[in-house]
Amino acid sequence: MNTRSIQTLARCIALSWVCGIAATAQAQLTAEALHTRATAAMCANCHGTEGRTIEGSSIPSLAGMPKDYMVLQMKAFKEGTRPATVMHQLSKGLTDAQIQTIASYYAAIPR
Ligand code: HEC
Repeated sequence: MNTRSIQTLARCIALSWVCGIAATAQAQLTAEALHTRATAAMCANCHGTEGRTIEGSSIPSLAGMPKDYMVLQMKAFKEGTRPATVMHQLSKGLTDAQIQTIASYYAAIPR
C-alpha cells in the first residue's frame, strides 16, 4: 500500500466514524420524540389532537398550557386535592416522569 491509499483509507475510516455518530444521535432523537408523542397521545381522545379542543368544548385545551401549571394540576388530581370526574383516575396511572414529559410536550405547542 502506498502513502496515498493509506491516507484515503484513513479518511474513509474517519468519515464513517463521524457519520456513524451522527446517525446514532439522529436515531436516538427520533426514538425519544416518538416516545414523547406516544405518551402525550394518551390525552388526545378527550383533549383533542395536539391538545386543542373544539370551540365550546367543556374539556379544557392543553396546547400552550404552562408546564408548571399542568404539573401542579396533575399532582392535585393524583392526590385528590382537586376534584375531578375522570382526571383523578387518569393521573394515578402516570409516573411523575411521564407527567413532566407530557407537560413539556403540551407547553411547547402553540395555542
Ligand atoms: C377520558 C377523557 C380525558 C382524558 C383521556 C384526559 N383528560 Fe384531562 N380532563 C378531562 C376532563 C373531563 C377534565 C375536567 C376535570 C375533570 O372533570 O376530570 C380534564 C382536565 C384536565 C386538566 C385541567 C385543566 C385546567 O385548565 O386546569 C389537565 C391539566 C388535564 N386534564 C390534563 C390531561 C392530560 C395530561 C391527559 C393525558 C395524560 C389527560 N388530561 C387525559 C378529560 C380527559
